[in-house]
Order: sequence, then C-alpha cells, then structure tokens
Amino acid sequence: MLSPLALYIHWPFCLSKCPYCDFNSHVRERLDQARFRAALRAELAWEAARLGPRRLTSIFFGGGTPSLMEPETVAALIADAQQFFRPEPDIEITLEANPTSVEAARLADFRAAGVNRISMGIQSLRDDALAALGRQHSASQARAALETARAIFPRISFDLIYARPNQALADWRAELREALALAADHLSLYQLTIEPGTAFEAQARSGALVLPDPDDAADLYTATADEAETFGLLPYEISNYARPGSESRHNLAYWRYRDYAGIGPGAHGRVGIGDQLLATRRHRAPEPWAERVEANGHGSTEEFALSPEIRAREALLMGLRLAEGIDLAAFAGRTGQTLHESIDADTLARAIEEDYLELTATTLRALPEGRLRLDSLLAALVL
Ligand SMILES: C[S@@+](CC[C@H](N)C(=O)[O-])C[C@H]1O[C@@H](n2cnc3c(N)ncnc32)[C@H](O)[C@@H]1O
Ligand code: SF4
Repeated sequence: MLSPLALYIHWPFCLSKCPYCDFNSHVRERLDQARFRAALRAELAWEAARLGPRRLTSIFFGGGTPSLMEPETVAALIADAQQFFRPEPDIEITLEANPTSVEAARLADFRAAGVNRISMGIQSLRDDALAALGRQHSASQARAALETARAIFPRISFDLIYARPNQALADWRAELREALALAADHLSLYQLTIEPGTAFEAQARSGALVLPDPDDAADLYTATADEAETFGLLPYEISNYARPGSESRHNLAYWRYRDYAGIGPGAHGRVGIGDQLLATRRHRAPEPWAERVEANGHGSTEEFALSPEIRAREALLMGLRLAEGIDLAAFAGRTGQTLHESIDADTLARAIEEDYLELTATTLRALPEGRLRLDSLLAALVL
C-alpha cells in the first residue's frame, strides 16, 4: 500500500517584499507566467512518476503570493495532480491569497479552478499596523476581500500577526475579537518573529524595533488562546485555531510527519520511497529553478534519505506542536525508533513532573505550560 500524499506547490512571487518575511518570495517587474506554469507542471509530472498513483489528501498553493497566479495555472496544476494521483473524495485544495483588490477579483476563478479553501494574509485589522508591516492593503480592503471569499469558498481561514512592537494586551484583545467575529472555522495567529536577513532584523539590531519581552509575549499568547476558545476555535497547533473537524488537513500532514511532496522553487518534501524516507528540496531562486526543470525535468538540489535519528527529531519537533501530541505507534513506525530511544530520559521525567509534557501508553503531548516554552523544551529533550 502506497502512503497517502499531501502536495505543496510554491509560487515564489509577490507584489512587494514585506519587511518581516523570510519566505522564498521575490518581486519581479515582468513575469513569464506561461514559463513558470510549464515548469511547475513538468516538475509535478516528474515527481508523480517516481511517487506512483497514491491517494491524494490535499493540495496547498503557498508562497509568495499564489493569488497572483493566473487561474489557468492553478487549474492546470489541479487537473494534473488529479490525473497523476488518486484524489480523496473530500480532498482539501487551499490557496494562499493576499487581500488586494487585484487578487480579490480573481477569487471566483480560483474556485472554478477547483480550489475549495482560501487562506488569506490579513495580518492586522488596524491601518497603522498594516503600514508598519509594509502591507499593500488597508483594513477595509481586507474585510472586503474576506467577505468576497466567504461568499465563494466553502472553507476560509486567515492569518494575523500579533506581539507586534508596542502592542498593548487590551488593544490586541479588541482587534482579535473583531477578527473572531469575521472568522469562519479556522484562523492562524502568529506571533511576530524576527527572521534573519529581513529588514525588521536590521531594525531590531539597531534598536529601532523592539518586540514585547518574553513575559508580555506569553501573556499575549495566553490571551489569544482564551479569546479564540471563547469563540469555539481551539488551538490544535501552536499558532492554528479551528473548530473541531475544520483543522487544515494539509498542515496536519506536516505536523503528523506524513508524506508530502513539494513542487516549485525552494519547496521541501518528505516522501517515503521504498523503505527510505527522502528529504527533497528544490533550488530556491525562481529563474535558475526553471532553467533546471527545463533541462532535467526537475529543479531538485541534493536529496538524501533521513536516518532514524533525524526522523525522530523531526517527528518530535513537528508533533509536539499539536494539541493531540504524538501517537507513539505511528512515531515508531515512521522513524524506526521508539520514543525512549529518541529523547533524553531525565529531561522527559522532569518535564512530566513540571506538567510541561504528558506521557500515556499511546501518546506524548505538550501541556499548555509546555506549549508556552516549547522551543527550549525541545532543545533539551531531543537527542
Ligand atoms: C507565506 S506567508 C504569506 C502568504 C501571503 N503572501 C500573505 O502575505 O498574505 C504565510 C504567513 O506567514 C506569516 N508570517 C510571515 N512572516 C512572519 C513573521 N516574521 N512573523 C510572524 N508571522 C509571519 C504571515 O501571517 C503570513 O500570512
Ligand atoms: S508576507 Fe506574503 S506578501 Fe509579504 S513578502 Fe512574505 S509571502 Fe510575500
């Protein structure tokens, strides 16, 4: 039996570069869509040939800004994927969209192309915060784009960034309540992080940009979870909130450490082939990636089989982000190691005693206090 597959397709272009963002995104004055469409289709065909006719549980168009794709590019890729693989009847097909007017106008075409879930990058409902985040849209445009999306798509989610410089807890609660009133059944709520090489990193280094201190950030996180839960959205992952049953199936495949294929510049994949679990990665820069696809059928950089130790480390890093935690039988099956072979026993015992982690006969999971300090916990725990 071939494992089911989640498929990620990366569109690496944006209208402008946001100062906080280190995703593989590039601004181009002119873009040859037909070339990138052909290259994405070619790479998908190449990957599908080696993966075989697996069940396909989800497709995710991420970026960059996939709502800048021509709808026919999205339609062609969905049709190809449906032909190469065996789509589940309830396949989830998500596209990340930005709420500028250009993109909002295309939403109906994306729906016609087969997209059934939109993930919109709203970031904030405050115009001053949007300006500080370097966004190309206003809060009212964001609300309008959400309304358009709700009328067209069966499922929508949107992203907000909080723990912004000088953000007071009461202000965030008020903004979040407005957002919850607009939400459907899923939200991604990210704390602002300073990423290497971004404009915000330079500002943070010079002292021009100051993030909330860790205690304030923890208060903001707790308040966020409280507000969302009051509204019926549960934190099923550190930054992701959903009504039960409306979780992002695609992202769950990452966190549950299942097979996913990554197509397009810079895309990563984890795919089981034979008895190996292969880490795949595509060349990051868009044009050199396209040249490689045109020459070789794929834009892969080095690929390698993951050792049991690395599999275990990755499965822990991903799985402890989830409220449901890690299924120990699935963990052993996927990694080739038991949990106890993979983690430091003393740290585990201490973390259990301090109520950071909970271990049962079947599951290891992080408790709320553990989720607040997950990074340091993982650093100590993972061998
Ligand atoms: C691939 S990005 C963006 C999708 C889309 N291009 C957009 O900007 O709306 C996915 C999400 O990551 C979040 N994000 C990106 N960089 C971040 C950072 N440094 N800190 C917190 N969240 C970040 C944003 O909320 C963003 O919507
Ligand atoms: S946040 Fe979105 S729009 Fe901004 S640079 Fe990153 S991918 Fe592009």
